[in-house]
Amino acid sequence: MINQQLQEIILQYASSNKHFTFLIGAGLSAESNIPTFRGPEGYWTIESAHYHPQEMATKRMFNAHFNEVWKWYLYRINTCSVAKPNPGHYALVEIEQKLTDQFSLISQNVDGLNIRAGSSIKNYFPIHGDLTFMRCYNECSNKLHEIPTSLSNRNHKHSLSKEELALLKCPSCNSKTRPHVLWFDEYYNEEYYRLHSVLERAINTDILFTIGTSAATNLPNQVFDIAINNEITIVDININDNPFAERLSHYKKGHIIKEKSGSVLPKISSLIS
Ligand code: OAD
Repeated sequence: MINQQLQEIILQYASSNKHFTFLIGAGLSAESNIPTFRGPEGYWTIESAHYHPQEMATKRMFNAHFNEVWKWYLYRINTCSVAKPNPGHYALVEIEQKLTDQFSLISQNVDGLNIRAGSSIKNYFPIHGDLTFMRCYNECSNKLHEIPTSLSNRNHKHSLSKEELALLKCPSCNSKTRPHVLWFDEYYNEEYYRLHSVLERAINTDILFTIGTSAATNLPNQVFDIAINNEITIVDININDNPFAERLSHYKKGHIIKEKSGSVLPKISSLIS
């Protein structure tokens, strides 16, 4: 529930040029039927061994099992491409349209659903990359290339054919490509993941919303810490307990809303004119 005090803060901040930041995680897309990262789904089998996403999404695994890791990503890309944005995504579009440049959207999701719903690129920070794109593994340039749609519709059980592998070559230098995502054995940077821009937005934020995330990655924790240090209002929206909500329960400007993001975000949007 959005209590009276929070309603007043939102109203007052929206009309007085304050900056709103929305930090989203897999929970936002759960209502679009995209499995969350740490949910029970998501294991992948290679030669009878079962791997968790945290093992699959690594440079180490990509180097050891190039075909299998690409097969796993193409399967995930297919799941995302058939999914549709939900009321939470659309509410964020509406909120941005009302707040214009008083708005930042920091996303841990790689599904591209916010952009498909209509969020603008300008205020959008996909800090873990975007599965719509691949890039040159050897970094001949930092250009992003759209993954050919024919590759997302494949039967995920089949091995990659010669023709499919040819589509996964860098269009500029013909060497291998990689999905445009941050792997667990890599670090954030500005070039691909907007590290410094996100920290700058965090420093200049007046109210932070953390939505559908289990607070397990580094940059979201830095954004949260900055918000705490700056003593701004922080609102956590999650159907379950999580480390951000736990910290907010001891913080005087913290609000915890234990409901689905798809129902809370439209209510937040309706408060802003
Ligand atoms: P998780 O799968 O870890 O957490 C999803 C969170 O969403 C959980 O806390 C759920 O309780 C909550 N949730 C589920 N359905 C919800 C709903 N309808 N409304 C609100 N909350 C809901 O996903 P993330 O926190 O996004 O990074 O994971 C963060 C990152 O961990 C991922 O981006 C990925 C992984 O490491 C990289 O790949 C670098």
